[in-house]
Amino acid sequence: MTALSVSTSSAVSLRADALVIGVAKGPKGLVVAPGAEAVVEAFEGKLAEVLTTLGATGAEGEAVKLPAPAGAKAPLVLAVGLGAAAEGAYGAEELRKAAGTAARTLAGSKKVALALPAVSADEVEAVALGGLLGTYSFGSYKAEVAKAPVAELVLLVERKGSKDAKVAVERAAAIGEEMNRARDLVNTAPNDLNPKSFAAIAQAAGKEHGLKVEVLDEKALAKGGFGGILGVGVGSANPPRLVKVAYTHPKAKASLAFVGKGITYDSGGISLKPAGHNETMKCDMAGAAAVFAAVVAAKRLGLQVNVTAWLALAENMPSGSATRPGDVLRMYGGKTVEVLNTDAEGRLVLADAIVKAGEEQPDVIVDVATLTGAMVLALGTRTFGVMANDEALRTRLHETAGAVGEASWPMPLPADLRKGMVESTVADLANMGERMGGGLVAGLFLQEFVAEGTAWAHLDIAGPAFNEGGASGYTPKGGTASAVRTLVRFAEDTAAGK
Ligand code: BES
Ligand code: MN
Ligand code: ZN
Repeated sequence: MTALSVSTSSAVSLRADALVIGVAKGPKGLVVAPGAEAVVEAFEGKLAEVLTTLGATGAEGEAVKLPAPAGAKAPLVLAVGLGAAAEGAYGAEELRKAAGTAARTLAGSKKVALALPAVSADEVEAVALGGLLGTYSFGSYKAEVAKAPVAELVLLVERKGSKDAKVAVERAAAIGEEMNRARDLVNTAPNDLNPKSFAAIAQAAGKEHGLKVEVLDEKALAKGGFGGILGVGVGSANPPRLVKVAYTHPKAKASLAFVGKGITYDSGGISLKPAGHNETMKCDMAGAAAVFAAVVAAKRLGLQVNVTAWLALAENMPSGSATRPGDVLRMYGGKTVEVLNTDAEGRLVLADAIVKAGEEQPDVIVDVATLTGAMVLALGTRTFGVMANDEALRTRLHETAGAVGEASWPMPLPADLRKGMVESTVADLANMGERMGGGLVAGLFLQEFVAEGTAWAHLDIAGPAFNEGGASGYTPKGGTASAVRTLVRFAEDTAAGK
């Protein structure tokens, strides 16, 4: 795990393997961002000129290396682009991306000093978080890791405010380390991560951090009548689990329930997915990983709010014992569902978990799920959809996501789409409705399981949860830990009475 620290040393006097500075696109070409004054001085004022000669422009995502000037204690300077030059302070997202790009580019170095334009606690936190997320590498299955992640990141800060900077860095560590853990869970091969092993990981982390963890195994699920989770998991040799991870604060004035879809592998079941659609389906537990990371982070931050994460874990496989299209499941709480397509399994496990979570009467339920391909078609691979039974809550989650640098968009739950879904000839509901607007149909299905009067929101992260493209900024290939920052900020705001 990468170590994070702050130092009030000057950029040229700190011993490190590399020194990172920020550059930006000014109206008259490249400008060096604040924080790198000592480096500019050591280059006798020619740094912008030298970098321009090397082809640097200050564009976002750019990373240009150059030998350090005489007198500097680090042999290498890395200039990372911040995008358009800012009049005042740089935005948190620009800082996170630049720090992430630096950490990725410098993989293989042991100690890296960051002299980016970060003065306020928020700016310091952004650099620390971006840097930590940028060090992420998943190498468990490789005999040799190409380049070891940066072992130590040192943020150079001003003496004034250095105490606040330390607190900010600790906050970043709590959030970033849990996000990197969520990424590991998503990237772990599905023959290693199954409902049982995921539950064991949750139990171990609960012990480590002092969280209450309860696991319902297949016997307990059968006894309790969790027909949705059982119906999805019954075709697999790896039986399902429902895991509750609870964080309580003695002075909490509000309670939040975060429910995560945890399909450790989605083959589609008897409605089998064709080749080309199942290679990345180990990512179908990203919602469960996100709510798990969020509750652990809430605990580490000591937030004055109760947060309960519910992980609805199952493996969706075809077999002689698998649920068939046409089967009727009796869900937790008593509603019946005709399964018309076994590939619409996420809503089945979530429905049980939402009913169970609702019994504790939380103030808000937020579920997080890689739920539909339709949402990816609608919003692309970087934006998650936000649905809710309460417009103010939907707006709040969309704005919370924006505030932490996650792209999201509010989506409707149109009443007319509900019709197709409640028209099962044999059961209360069918697990499929109209094909058009499939992401909204799935949201409407979940809404049926929310107790009257409970505020509920649904985040469909099928697009951004798993990055099939190249790494950029602080976002790696594979698992991204989508929605974790939004959930943590939502819990923080709730704790603050917002
Ligand atoms: N896990 C998938 C959704 C998904 C698709 C996640 C792409 C990530 C990337 C989900 O279980 C699923 O298969 N949904 C079906 C629903 C349909 C059968 C109603 C879909 O979206 O096609
Ligand atoms: Mn599916
Ligand atoms: Zn799925």
